[in-house]
Amino acid sequence: MTAKIISGTEVAKAIREELKVEVAELMEKHGIIPGLVTILVGEDPASQSYVAAKNKTAHALGIHSEQVTLAADTREADLLALVVKYNNDSKIHGILVQLPLPKHINEANVLYAISPDKDVDGFHPVNVGKMVLGEQCFLPCTPHGILELLVRSGVQTSGAEVVVIGRSNIVGKPIANLMLQKRPGGNATVTLCHTRTKDMAAHCRRADILIAAVGVPKMVTADMVKDGVAIIDVGVNRIGMSESGKAILAGDVDFEAVKEKASCITPVPGGVGPMTITMLMKNTVQAAKIAGKLI
Ligand code: GUN
Repeated sequence: MTAKIISGTEVAKAIREELKVEVAELMEKHGIIPGLVTILVGEDPASQSYVAAKNKTAHALGIHSEQVTLAADTREADLLALVVKYNNDSKIHGILVQLPLPKHINEANVLYAISPDKDVDGFHPVNVGKMVLGEQCFLPCTPHGILELLVRSGVQTSGAEVVVIGRSNIVGKPIANLMLQKRPGGNATVTLCHTRTKDMAAHCRRADILIAAVGVPKMVTADMVKDGVAIIDVGVNRIGMSESGKAILAGDVDFEAVKEKASCITPVPGGVGPMTITMLMKNTVQAAKIAGKLI
């Protein structure tokens, strides 16, 4: 078996076309332009490229976007003051502080300072709590993108054995939680593996759907998966530099070997990455609609 490639690029494109129409309608019918601010502290090259991609996508959809770049030695109090300023700015419906933050800044203090109504990352405890309870809220972008990829690719999740590798707050914990809920893309039996899991390979081999979010290049090898598995590879690992100075990326899954056993698989790049950015745009449009009392 050679796997069908689940193209996040293609699925993201389809959702972006839908969003473009929604954004144009918001302007024409209600005079609302959704607004997003991205805040980057420091000069991490990966974060710089993610933030640039987020702003570029916002612009392409007609979303107003502002980008703030702060020095790596910015004081936490100054960052908090900036967040408060945007909490009170009616042109801005979504606030994104790119993670990771420099070590001297307490990440929780910053994320908790963002108004839950503008928390388009879905990281504020109010939104995390609502997500766990299955209430309406901003879903975190990467897990939300994974659900959309699975649903739109026709992967059956109801009753499926899902194994998630990685327990981060951004991906592992929320995707495990969402996939066990009674909702499209949910109703699965979920196992969450992490660094202390005994015999990770044995868990992985049971998976109908395997989601790898660990940050270790090619960690999932062909002997760790069963025939017909659906693979979602969240890893974006920089494993070198091309002659032209572009980062060479690898996922958490040994793509070439595993694709011979899987029924479908996301590539890196072009899999989950474009979906994450697209769901951020979807959340920003949703935030603008909520602010305009349209939903
Ligand atoms: N760093 C890695 N992924 C994310 C994300 O989804 N949102 C933010 N704010 N930072 C990140």
